Amino acid sequence: MAPSGPRPALPALLVLLAALLPGPGEAQTSVFPQGVILPRGGSVLVNCSSSCDQRSFVGLETPLTKREVLPGGNNWKMFELSNVQEDSQPICFSNCNDSQSTAKTFLTVYWTPERVELAPLPAWQPVGENLTLRCQVEGGAPRANLTVVLLRGEEELSRQPVVGEPAEVTVTVLAGRDDHGASFSCRTELDLRSQGLELFENTSAPHQLQTFVLPATPPQLLSPRVLEVDTQGTVVCSLDGLFPVSEAQVHLALGDQKLNHTITYGIDSLSAKASVKGTAEEEGTQRLLCAVILGNQSQETRGTVTVYSKNGQGTDRGFLGV
Ligand SMILES: *[C@@H]1O[C@H](CO)[C@@H](O)[C@H](O)[C@H]1NC(C)=O
Ligand SMILES: *[C@@H]1O[C@H](CO)[C@@H](O)[C@H](O)[C@H]1NC(C)=O
Ligand SMILES: *[C@@H]1O[C@H](CO)[C@@H](O)[C@H](O)[C@H]1NC(C)=O
Ligand SMILES: *[C@@H]1O[C@H](CO)[C@@H](O)[C@H](O)[C@H]1NC(C)=O
Ligand SMILES: *[C@@H]1O[C@H](CO)[C@@H](O)[C@H](O)[C@H]1NC(C)=O
Ligand SMILES: *[C@@H]1O[C@H](CO)[C@@H](O)[C@H](O)[C@H]1NC(C)=O
Ligand SMILES: *[C@@H]1O[C@H](CO)[C@@H](O)[C@H](O)[C@H]1NC(C)=O
Repeated sequence: MAPSGPRPALPALLVLLAALLPGPGEAQTSVFPQGVILPRGGSVLVNCSSSCDQRSFVGLETPLTKREVLPGGNNWKMFELSNVQEDSQPICFSNCNDSQSTAKTFLTVYWTPERVELAPLPAWQPVGENLTLRCQVEGGAPRANLTVVLLRGEEELSRQPVVGEPAEVTVTVLAGRDDHGASFSCRTELDLRSQGLELFENTSAPHQLQTFVLPATPPQLLSPRVLEVDTQGTVVCSLDGLFPVSEAQVHLALGDQKLNHTITYGIDSLSAKASVKGTAEEEGTQRLLCAVILGNQSQETRGTVTVYSKNGQGTDRGFLGV
């Protein structure tokens, strides 16, 4: 049950071939090479010839800079095309016995991209949020053989064709703890191995990422509620679930006064301890602030400490001094 559709097409195809191919007694123009890939700005030799059995005129039609390489031969001419900047299709022609025939050659220009750049990354990226990597590529040809690869270290995150000029290729990754300190980059690959050339690679400068986790909970703040003038109390501020905990900073303040603290680190927690001393100038209710800062975010807890003095504090001071 062969389909009958294609059958009538066969005679039509033969007629078409007969029209395209030169009939007996007609000369044909040939070109060598019929196609070539060359570096941008490069030169190429093109041989145009005619199968005419008489002396015929052979020429090459092109907007490119051309030079005839002498001496030519009987019914052939060699041309040098130079400074080829873009793809081009020069046409050889010959006039034989009052009829003209032509042959086209395909020049494909290749060049590596002039710019391969990864857009800057945020200074700090929260774990669990999407991060978009953008790679910009300018230039490069042939685009059919040009690929951009987005990388984390040596790991390929995405491989995409290069479209547009300049081209921007993006990939979204979910930032994880593993990405802290990871290096991201992008690389273009101009693969001309199938044309007998190389694999040309260009890589962007690497960008390091810092990721962090700061929990949504405020720090826990422990402090005396009241503090007698000239006595000392201890303030402790702690928070769990921090990553990387060594990068976390603490700000502790009583009123306008920054408190000196010492931090003890756990695996993912920290505890900042400071001593506070009530002074006569601070008598009254003072604001106490603890802020834990990580990445570009912070979590804070506020409290109060009431500083008071007993009646006759002057004698107390004298008494303590003895
Ligand atoms: C030249 O053209 C004439 C008539 O058009 C034809 O008879 C002759 O065969 C042709 N010769 C060649 C070499 O094409
Ligand atoms: C150019 O092509 C013709 C026809 O194929 C050939 O005879 C001639 O040797 C070629 N010239 C060169 C320099 O290769
Ligand atoms: C922290 O940085 C991220 C990424 O740059 C940004 O989206 C976010 O608004 C910043 N958050 C704060 C509190 O500045
Ligand atoms: C991250 O992006 C993907 C799609 O690229 C989406 O499915 C996912 O919900 C996003 N996750 C967050 C946390 O925004
Ligand atoms: C390069 O592009 C050409 C034209 O599209 C294609 O035929 C060839 O397979 C490509 N080569 C590689 C290695 O991608
Ligand atoms: C791209 O790589 C090629 C070698 O593959 C090199 O010759 C060229 O200078 C590089 N281009 C840039 C802009 O670095
Ligand atoms: C904090 O400690 C530094 C030295 O470690 C000291 O010079 C400074 O006076 C202290 N500040 C307070 C408010 O105790």
